[in-house]
Amino acid sequence: MKKTETVALRINGQTLSVRAGTSVAAALRIAGSADMGTARRSVLGQARAPFCGMGICHECRVDIDGRRRLACQTRCEDGMVVETSA
Ligand code: FES
Repeated sequence: MKKTETVALRINGQTLSVRAGTSVAAALRIAGSADMGTARRSVLGQARAPFCGMGICHECRVDIDGRRRLACQTRCEDGMVVETSA
């Protein structure tokens, strides 16, 4: 049986282990079941979460290792630090 590789990252200070190849958008959903994977807040304070999953809507913008990136277009890496503005 093939062993499943996992990676560990931190999302808003919380450590999470996911399968290698998981997108950061999916990790947000896994980590934030209560807030449905909210990535950020709009200027009016509304919760925004990944929508299109293909890099078009930009609703999944988060800070990854200090740089603003699209969560749906970024795969989780070991030691990655993700900060949402949610
Ligand atoms: S979910 Fe639309 S750009 Fe990431």
